[in-house]
Amino acid sequence: MAFCHIIVYNCPMDVAIKLLVVDDEQEMCNILQEYFTDSGFDVVTVNNAEQAIKQLDASEFDCLLTDMRMPGIGGMGLLKQLRDRKMNVPVVMMTAFGTVDSAVEAMKSGAFHFVKKPFKLNELKTIVEQASEVSRVRRENRLLRRQLQERHSFANIIGKSKAMQDVFARIAMVADSPSSVLITGASGTGKELVARAIHFSGRFKDGPFVPVNCSAIPDTLLESELFGHVKGAFTGAHATRRGLFKEAEGGTLFLDEIGDLTMSVQAKLLRVLQEKVVRPVGSDKSFPVKARIIAATNQDLEEAVRQGQFRQDLYYRLAVIPIRLPTLGERQEDIPLLIAYFTEKFSREQGKALKKFTVGAVEVMMQYEWQGNVRELENMVERLVVLSPKEVLDVDDLPERVRNHAKARREHFVSLVQMEADYIRRVLKYTNGNKLRASRILGINRRTLYRKMERLGLADNNGEINSETRG
Ligand SMILES: Nc1ncnc2c1ncn2[C@@H]1O[C@H](COP(=O)(O)OP(=O)(O)OP(=O)(O)O)[C@@H](O)[C@H]1O
Ligand SMILES: [Mg+2]
Repeated sequence: MAFCHIIVYNCPMDVAIKLLVVDDEQEMCNILQEYFTDSGFDVVTVNNAEQAIKQLDASEFDCLLTDMRMPGIGGMGLLKQLRDRKMNVPVVMMTAFGTVDSAVEAMKSGAFHFVKKPFKLNELKTIVEQASEVSRVRRENRLLRRQLQERHSFANIIGKSKAMQDVFARIAMVADSPSSVLITGASGTGKELVARAIHFSGRFKDGPFVPVNCSAIPDTLLESELFGHVKGAFTGAHATRRGLFKEAEGGTLFLDEIGDLTMSVQAKLLRVLQEKVVRPVGSDKSFPVKARIIAATNQDLEEAVRQGQFRQDLYYRLAVIPIRLPTLGERQEDIPLLIAYFTEKFSREQGKALKKFTVGAVEVMMQYEWQGNVRELENMVERLVVLSPKEVLDVDDLPERVRNHAKARREHFVSLVQMEADYIRRVLKYTNGNKLRASRILGINRRTLYRKMERLGLADNNGEINSETRG
């Protein structure tokens, strides 16, 4: 029987190995507890198989290190229980000399490891480490995935506006469907965020999410990058490459900046989507596509289609379900919410006291035209949170361009009709709704004032204008 094979993984988080030690000799438990704890393991010890089962029921262990001969059901009984209950924790059995043969015989059906007593502690450690490797990596991956899910679920997409509520409804609708999704929207509106939300909230969440920035890869490489290639397919193809379609199998392939694809790659992508098979460059074998496709672009693809720069047939293949993200200007009411969200996020990340923006500062930010949309707003809030020593941030603390722009908007960009309406309202308020006095101040006659009020929607039944003083 092979003891164990060595598996090398890159463990991103270095989660401690959780080890359960079972031995009826308390002295042995103490030695093992101390040694493994010192070596960075997370150790629990118990004195019999029954207690071990209880522990295993209560929490997840990466490895079970057990003595064979113990009162009660003993090591072998424990092993049988594990198998009956389909608990697949790796087991390392400690056996005294002389019992090895019978142990080997009895253990043939189960996959586990054993060490002969007496043993050297560092050798035992190596065996335990190897036995735990797979389950520890599995546990780490689960943890990582859970964190990813938390980071990318809906909860991170902020917006109460009608436009964003529509986006949420779409995400929920498409998450479990295999159809292609096309996300459009200006730069920084959250296209990638939404793509991740679709992936991590839907039925493909346990598969990989593979993003490809189509504009960042030279056209000559894109084909082999996406579809893979065989060794020697072209100069420089020193090894076989799986390709991103293959890598995304069972998950999502996110084709970002799809509007930048050249005509030739568009044609190849279309064929893949139509035939649902991929043939790596230089290969005569194809494999089926088993990835859901989400594409995104900040270009107006329909216009590109009209201009002949984007294939119409490919557009229809990709845009089975279109999601259009609004600019920040289209959802101004979300701006205060986003400011609060980012302020909290960056204050927390920086370990600083929660900063605040004054109402005035928030108003100025609502006026500003965010060309870079949420990304620009996010970056600005981050800079202020990180760099400003103040706890309360006011208009003066905002970058000049934001302040000036808001001023410019107020001074020049209100339409004449709006200005006229505002002004008439002000005068009417001053005269307490008395139109005769108001028309004198305005230098127009009363009939003209009535006409204007009607045209501008300044009906005089809104309380501001007192009916008793109607002149
Ligand atoms: N609704 C939102 N709520 C919270 N954060 C958001 C929202 N939309 C975008 N963001 C944040 O703004 C930044 C830009 O978002 P993202 O990268 O998804 O934009 P994009 O549309 O893909 O931009 P580009 O076209 O430039 O690639 C990210 O940090 C993202 O987390
Ligand atoms: Mg993007």
